[in-house]
Amino acid sequence: MRLTVIGTGYLGATHAACMAELGHEVLGVDVDPDKIAALRSGRVPFYEPGLQELLARHTASGRLRFTTSYEEAAAFARVHFSCVGTPQSQGSDAADLTYVDAVIDALAPHLTEPSLVIGKSTVPVGTADRLAARLAELAPSGADAELAWNPEFLREGFAVRDTLRPDRLVFGVRSPGAEALLREVYAPVIVGGTPVITADFPTAELVKTAANAFLATKISFINAMAEVCEATGADVSVLATAIGHDERIGARFLRAGVGFGGGCLPKDIRAFAARAQELGTGHSLAFLREVDAVNLRRRDRVTELVRELCGGTPAGVRIAVLGAAFKPDSDDIRDSPALDIAVRLHEDGADVTVYDPQAMDNARKKHPLLGYALSATEAMADADVVLHLTEWEEFRSLDPAALAAVVGHPRIVDGRGALDADRWVAAGWDFHALGRPARVRTGASGCAG
Ligand code: UDX
Repeated sequence: MRLTVIGTGYLGATHAACMAELGHEVLGVDVDPDKIAALRSGRVPFYEPGLQELLARHTASGRLRFTTSYEEAAAFARVHFSCVGTPQSQGSDAADLTYVDAVIDALAPHLTEPSLVIGKSTVPVGTADRLAARLAELAPSGADAELAWNPEFLREGFAVRDTLRPDRLVFGVRSPGAEALLREVYAPVIVGGTPVITADFPTAELVKTAANAFLATKISFINAMAEVCEATGADVSVLATAIGHDERIGARFLRAGVGFGGGCLPKDIRAFAARAQELGTGHSLAFLREVDAVNLRRRDRVTELVRELCGGTPAGVRIAVLGAAFKPDSDDIRDSPALDIAVRLHEDGADVTVYDPQAMDNARKKHPLLGYALSATEAMADADVVLHLTEWEEFRSLDPAALAAVVGHPRIVDGRGALDADRWVAAGWDFHALGRPARVRTGASGCAG
């Protein structure tokens, strides 16, 4: 099939390359000429495992092309995916729908043939209804310009896999014709066994926001347990393992630590709660405010812990921060807990040095005043406290014995509950983790600063 993918950010670039991989002829569309130039030359402007290879292969074969022209897009295909962002609005919790609206406004006037526009963005429930009406009103083909909603569930770091082999496909459709076209687009995925759920527009929109709300709640649940563990001397990692064996609960997404960040979960739960308020059912999602609050309190806990370890103030203390991305296998620093903590400690006078395997350029651009190192070992040189805040595999395989000789004080805070505490303790380190009892050498001294 021929199809276009409008918006070539993280979601759109991945979707476009994966649609080409499924055998379609794809035209990617974006208003940003720099992004289009990079993609045309086969270069992904962000880090996502496996995507670079896919993009290079399909741009070289000519099956995947890019343009900034909506006119060209409308002439190229009758199926158009809209993959633009819905960030948090300035000054409110609601989603900013400027880009979603702009796609319909720019594309519709060129649709002279029967067409299907498929929204993939995470939107407040009710948006698809409104966009469908606007599409039919602006398109020369009128009611033959149809809308469908097909939410995306991809995780950063696994985006290619999640697009080619998703857990499920959700088709929000209003006609058998729209469903048939979607089934044709995803035929190779469906043949592979992925279940398809068809739904009306509001249900399709809600599936996405409900899934993200559930995941965020699960993380904040275990982080709330971590707070209780800290008050009682219990160990949240043992607790999580034990409750995770109950199949009704499940072990995944129960890792206590500095919490969720990134471009999706934080803004999506806020927008969901804001939308519920507008719909007069704010009480139903009031708990999401608490989910958000628990999440942000975990960042406070790390800065407090550093203060406790350093005799009341981090001023002058040398702190190594391992991790800048909001999660491993990504260079995305949007709402990153790691960087938020690094910046706060820097503002409190600490001498902070950050290292991340992939997110250094993004971090440096956004926070030029922080110190940066070229390796974990360099960041840790003479450090009084080491903070492990993004669980890259590289950090799990560090050698604590060798590093004990590099730091000023062998003292680490595992903010992701991902390091092997026994190894670090055996190598002479004081080991602190969120929601777990500290393992401290007797007679350990305070910070130098
Ligand atoms: C998320 C959803 O998983 C995805 O389905 C949706 O489409 C977009 O939002 P993503 O933002 O890539 O994907 O990150 P995810 O893997 O869900 O992790 C979110 C955050 O939670 C990360 O900061 C991660 O470090 C944190 N996390 C995850 C925890 O703190 N504990 C856990 O147990 C799991």
